[in-house]
Amino acid sequence: MPDTRVSPQALIEEYTRDRPRSRAAFERASRVLPGGLTHDVRAFTPFLPYIARAAGARKWDLDGHAYVDYAMGHGALILGHAHPAIVEAVARQVALGTHPGANHLLEVEWAERIRSLVPGAELVRFTSSGTEATLLALRLARAATGRPKVARFQGHFHGWHDAVVRGQSPPWDDLPPGVPPSAERETVVLPADLAAAERALRDDPEIGVVIVEPSGASWGTVPLAPGFLAGLRALTAERGVCLVLDEVITGFRWAPGGAQQRYGIRADLVTMAKIVAGGLPGGAVAGRRDLLEPVGLPGDARGRVPHPGTFNANPLTAAAGTACLDLVADPAVQRGCDRRAADLRAGLNEVLRRRGIRGAAYGESSTFHLAFDPRIAPGEPASLAALSAEELKRERRRPLQAALSLAMLLEGVHLFTLGGFLSTAHGEAELAQTVDALDRAVERCEGLLPR
Ligand SMILES: Cc1ncc(COP(=O)(O)O)c(C=O)c1O
Repeated sequence: MPDTRVSPQALIEEYTRDRPRSRAAFERASRVLPGGLTHDVRAFTPFLPYIARAAGARKWDLDGHAYVDYAMGHGALILGHAHPAIVEAVARQVALGTHPGANHLLEVEWAERIRSLVPGAELVRFTSSGTEATLLALRLARAATGRPKVARFQGHFHGWHDAVVRGQSPPWDDLPPGVPPSAERETVVLPADLAAAERALRDDPEIGVVIVEPSGASWGTVPLAPGFLAGLRALTAERGVCLVLDEVITGFRWAPGGAQQRYGIRADLVTMAKIVAGGLPGGAVAGRRDLLEPVGLPGDARGRVPHPGTFNANPLTAAAGTACLDLVADPAVQRGCDRRAADLRAGLNEVLRRRGIRGAAYGESSTFHLAFDPRIAPGEPASLAALSAEELKRERRRPLQAALSLAMLLEGVHLFTLGGFLSTAHGEAELAQTVDALDRAVERCEGLLPR
């Protein structure tokens, strides 16, 4: 057997040598794009591959390398890349015009689909992204309660606008450059702990809205304690505080009706993006009629909440979203993805156990995460309880995780922040390839991962 163990530097050199076209593209990008990038999460040493095309569960880079994809449109593509029904719907619509500058039937059909799937979606308002959806939801909640403050949980991700950017990553209280000091007063950052939430709501009557990722921070990187969501629902209801469930990831993935359906809880407002828009840019806020009605009031009405947006419910996205929701309405979609994700987590844990690596695969629904730490028993997700929220969140930044991600790319698997999303296109072959890839990647990273 050849010795495949290499240092991180050697991994970088091998990866760069085999990807001359991606390297040239990154050098070109660095001259016109800050950091050569278009999204913070794509920062990667030396660079992520430049993708030429994608289909199903796979994608191919400019240099001809194939990858099993777990980024899956940052969670948007539960039906896989370029699903025929979505390609057909978008192709049909593009020839009919991309922006009528007036009403169109697809926006109505799309909203009707959401209403039929999402519990409590009495009305729906479309946005162009998840960030815009959480921005609008917070504005609607403040308008209704007349209270200015937002409570959010450490590490939970709700996009990048001023009200939610503080508290996203440790140190939780840092105010990133460019965010006005008013955000510090108006955003209360809490640990995901019911007692802390209760204290905050009791002591600060200016808090009018609580926003939460129902999966726990960053699609379940930091899971929530059992009963947390139900407890939060009761606490907010008692105090007339609006509960916003940010279902940008969990919507139509955790169940056809999202986390609300899976966990049997009911929010006041739900924010959506990604799957709701069928892989195109788009988002939505849905929920209580009385909370959403103020965006629909006539221009001069008192209490109207302004919400323009050139590309809200644009017909291309509406076509993709409607086609996608028609398919994900069948719970067999989520059940199948969940089952294969559970199989994948088990397969990855088996590799870690066999190799004695102190790490574990974990996650809920059709997602998985990998964490490594000397306190984790090899392949035993239960031992993750020893890690704090901060540690779980930081996990992804360590150099050894970057080396493992790079080794996985060399083995033909693109992880998304050391984990990923499954789709209906991920079958037995992709799962087996991923488990084998981890086995070889762990070997390549020998000496870096804790034993
Ligand atoms: C839970 C959650 N909320 C909001 C957002 C922001 O969505 P967008 O990237 O479409 O602005 C994301 C994006 O990943 C998310 O995961």
